[in-house]
Amino acid sequence: MPCGVGFLQAQKEAVIAENGMVTSAYPEASRIGVEILKKGGNAFDALIATEFALAVCFPIAGNIGGGGFMVCRTAQGEYDVLDYREKAPLKAHEKMYLDAEGNVIDQLSQEGHLAVGVPGTVDGMLKIHQKYGSLPFKDLIQPAIDLAYQGYVLTQYEAENLNKYREDFLRINTHIPHQFIKPEGIPWKAGDTVRQPELAQTLERIRDHGRAGFYEGKTADLIVAEMQSPTQPARRGIITHEDLKNYQAVWRKPLIGYYKGYKIITMPPPSSGGIGLLQILGMIEKYPIAKWGVRDKRTLQVIIEAERRFYADRATHMADADFYKVPLKTLLDKQYLQNRMKDFSFEKAGISENITAGNIIESEETTHYTIADKWGNVVCVTTTLNDAYGSKVVVKGAGFFLNNEMDDFSIKPGFPNLYGAIGGKANAIAPQKRMLSSMTPTIVEKDNQFLFALGSPGGTTIPTSVLQVFLNVVEFGMPLQKAIDMPRFHHQWQPDVVFLEKDAFDKHLIEELEKLGYRFKGRKIIGRVNGIRKLKNGKWEGCADSRKDDTAIGY
Ligand code: DON
Repeated sequence: MPCGVGFLQAQKEAVIAENGMVTSAYPEASRIGVEILKKGGNAFDALIATEFALAVCFPIAGNIGGGGFMVCRTAQGEYDVLDYREKAPLKAHEKMYLDAEGNVIDQLSQEGHLAVGVPGTVDGMLKIHQKYGSLPFKDLIQPAIDLAYQGYVLTQYEAENLNKYREDFLRINTHIPHQFIKPEGIPWKAGDTVRQPELAQTLERIRDHGRAGFYEGKTADLIVAEMQSPTQPARRGIITHEDLKNYQAVWRKPLIGYYKGYKIITMPPPSSGGIGLLQILGMIEKYPIAKWGVRDKRTLQVIIEAERRFYADRATHMADADFYKVPLKTLLDKQYLQNRMKDFSFEKAGISENITAGNIIESEETTHYTIADKWGNVVCVTTTLNDAYGSKVVVKGAGFFLNNEMDDFSIKPGFPNLYGAIGGKANAIAPQKRMLSSMTPTIVEKDNQFLFALGSPGGTTIPTSVLQVFLNVVEFGMPLQKAIDMPRFHHQWQPDVVFLEKDAFDKHLIEELEKLGYRFKGRKIIGRVNGIRKLKNGKWEGCADSRKDDTAIGY
């Protein structure tokens, strides 16, 4: 397939290749990852190159100002997990987004300087390199540096996104982030080139000084200075040099579960996603959904009801396990999960408790990529700024967006975040705590053999997107690409509606379910899944979501 700088067409079909595969949200990033594989790099080397490339050519979610999770399976069949999620700054406190009366201050956790968590991506990449890298770090970051200087070519979607958020960039920053704004209000269009010399220089500092190139020295000075220049003094940021210097990504143990003989290796806390995936599977396991069929009313009922129960648990029990004792054992206990479904009836819809939940913003602006190499290493990464372009704050002089991940905390008990998720004590803000996530990078095995790996953006729709693709493959026998492209649905307890992509359910099915009390709401996109499967002949099959620009490239 064609590739190279200027290649604009996303790949819409599965790609098969012998040696290695990269599936990511942007063609240029997949190309850069594959180039590293071709040079003899392993999947971890390609991961680092892809992550930095996404920070350049997919600034809506790719980042050095955010964080993420990596789940991997090495060629030797060992698993590892890196948590490079952002952390609350030292000066953060439980009520930092509330006014004197205890009311939530509009948008304070969602845009601007105070919404920013301490970024983890750069330390994450360095830790991965230290443990698993085989090529020199400088060779892995260099393609991103070159891309930032030379410019990347906009696709239609990304041109539209930059146009859509233009006014926000101007309103939220005291300086004009020229690299993302065309002069005189001319809109961006597909085929335009975006150059980012300041970002290139920041990446050079990381190349030359490692951690100190970001968490200390000039980049740190610029981040801390940026914190002091919001448009209103009350919205000043609180990240200090000490916060940056202290930041450490953490190696964790994967969460492992089983479903009808399949082994699932996924993300533990501070994500709720892995727990959610395993809880929902545990609740539906006893039902013969393969026999019923993928769009049978009963299949959908048991999945929706299991989702309802997971999200109710999420609100109360899930958080950063370094700060809060997440009752993991109980949450994943077979008996507990079966008991959760005891009050479920096929005769009528369950009713979520009457707790206020707000509107959900339809954002898909996190990003997931999956990489496999010729030795058999597979890496699965979901990385994010949270919302589109994060807080919309661009660090003056350093050229990158900062996240708005603080909104993933429960900023007030029962108050919904961007994705409508609510929480309480468990996920309350505390200094240096990580905010609860839904990101679910996941690997699936059978009989000790790797089968497929996948993940998705989509806030709270992440675990349910991963779940549906998993079930489409293992229960309904679909090839991975078809399983990914199939229209999706999503339910999250609050609000008490089922979200549907276009054509997810036919009219008759919707009517039947409405009779039982289910309510539906259309949603443009639910998840953007990127995965890789190992075929029986030993080749890799890269499957990128056909919903947007996601692209698989192999060699
Ligand atoms: O960690 C999380 O769950 C969210 N910050 C992810 C955000 C996301 O997926 C945005 N795209 N929809």
